Amino acid sequence: MRQVLGTTMVLALVVASAVWLPAVRDARAGDSAPAADLARGEEVYARCAACHSLTENRTGPRHCGLFGRAAASQPGFQYSKAMQRSGLVWDAATLDRFLRAPLDVVPGTKMTYAGISDPSDRAALVAYLEVASRSEACTAAAQESP
Ligand code: HEC
Repeated sequence: MRQVLGTTMVLALVVASAVWLPAVRDARAGDSAPAADLARGEEVYARCAACHSLTENRTGPRHCGLFGRAAASQPGFQYSKAMQRSGLVWDAATLDRFLRAPLDVVPGTKMTYAGISDPSDRAALVAYLEVASRSEACTAAAQESP
């Protein structure tokens, strides 16, 4: 019996590290953003699509041009006072922080979304956002409505 338990523990550890270690590596991949991460990031972005689109303001502001832009600076969108006063500028670090717990990082934000707790999901999402927010779809949308 004891041996069976021991074997089970070892197996559980092996499985846990096989799942966990790649996740940690992904989270550290940062700037390089391999294609697999981008595909995963696009999947995670589906959670945002209920309120956001890259090219149009909906319940939430459009995400084209997000990187390098000050928070609450998308024309034509009615931001909360909280977001206007946040003083954030969107880059990989601020997005990672905000998306973990939007309501804690910007108390009073209109973005009523609990956040993404998994660091590797966030890393993939932010990598995707960086590419997508500068994509051709965005350039084309900017030309249609400057
Ligand atoms: C329930 C709707 C909803 C969901 C889901 C949602 N958002 Fe938002 N988001 C908003 C609203 C509304 C705002 C404007 C917040 C404010 O003014 O306080 C916002 C603002 C933002 C901003 C600030 C943009 C700016 O121009 O300053 C970012 C970045 C953002 N959302 C990213 C995301 C991402 C990424 C996801 C998916 C993980 C997501 N949001 C999910 C509604 C949502």
